[in-house]
Amino acid sequence: MIRVSKVSKRFKVVSAVQKADLHVQKGDIMGLLGPDGAGKTTLLRMICGLITPDEGEILLMGKPLEQLDKYRDELGYMPQRFSLYGDLTVMENIFFFGSMYRLDRSVIKQRADEILDITNLIPFKNRLADQLSGGMKQKLSLTCALITRPSLLILDEPTYGVDPESRKEFWKILYDLNRSGMTLLITTPYMDEAELCTKVAFISEGKIRLVSSPADLKKSFSYPVMQINLKTRRPINLHDLPGILDVSYMGSKVHVIVRDREQGHTEIQNYLLRNRIADATIQEVLPTMEDIFVGLAEGGAERWNMP
Ligand SMILES: Nc1ncnc2c1ncn2[C@@H]1O[C@H](COP(=O)(O)OP(=O)(O)OP(=O)(O)O)[C@@H](O)[C@H]1O
Ligand SMILES: [Mg+2]
Repeated sequence: MIRVSKVSKRFKVVSAVQKADLHVQKGDIMGLLGPDGAGKTTLLRMICGLITPDEGEILLMGKPLEQLDKYRDELGYMPQRFSLYGDLTVMENIFFFGSMYRLDRSVIKQRADEILDITNLIPFKNRLADQLSGGMKQKLSLTCALITRPSLLILDEPTYGVDPESRKEFWKILYDLNRSGMTLLITTPYMDEAELCTKVAFISEGKIRLVSSPADLKKSFSYPVMQINLKTRRPINLHDLPGILDVSYMGSKVHVIVRDREQGHTEIQNYLLRNRIADATIQEVLPTMEDIFVGLAEGGAERWNMP
């Protein structure tokens, strides 16, 4: 569906995207993950034809971007900062958006009913956009992006700042769309959402570092991850111990990425003894996406044994 080859984009002194390769296949839910300023939005905007790459090639559904005007309806885009008109109602926003695609009023109306049903916004059809909750505003943005019935949907941080319940509901909608045949490319700062993607691509400093399924990414992580289960939350400082690569805290659980299983285990055990933390247990676990994300941001792709 999307084939990005050696694509770069510079803004004056900033190399926003550097020789990026990305292949999104039909039916994928591809998550593009990376720290702030990594180049995610720039890459998505190039894929949507909104900015032109300095070099490289982008094919959408096998066709070059230059022909995008002929198949623009196939592509839905929900930008990072989507501007709804606050003084228009839900339906008026949809009509406005649909008319930009030169769709007939009758077609927009029929499709709006269908999509509002999917996004659960029918009861709010006549509410002003300004009076919608944050989660509902995002759903309205999604509804607008779906008005052309695209087969490929690109979403830039669609759930940012949305409460956990609404994020779940939003993802259920995305799954339903995917099941009906839609391919999705999505960015998210939430690692629990990264787990829901069929594939993830990590980007940092404009470079795509790794593309894999979440499961393969976990299996091929090169270093053991030790989980310390504490009975009570307490500060523990393992960062400076030898052989410890990263430490992340999840309430009463602590994840420690160690260079070597035996040595790491001994170091942690000795630390707990020295600090008289008697009620803790240590077990090896699979890395979470959070561990992976931290590892990638700090250690780079060498932390994986990818085939
Ligand atoms: N129009 C622009 N002019 C100048 N620099 C830009 C422009 N757009 C992006 N940049 C720079 O390019 C880099 C990548 O920005 P981009 O918005 O693509 O990152 P991002 O991964 O989407 O970040 P975030 O997670 O904060 O949304 C940043 O250093 C940013 O400041
Ligand atoms: Mg962005």
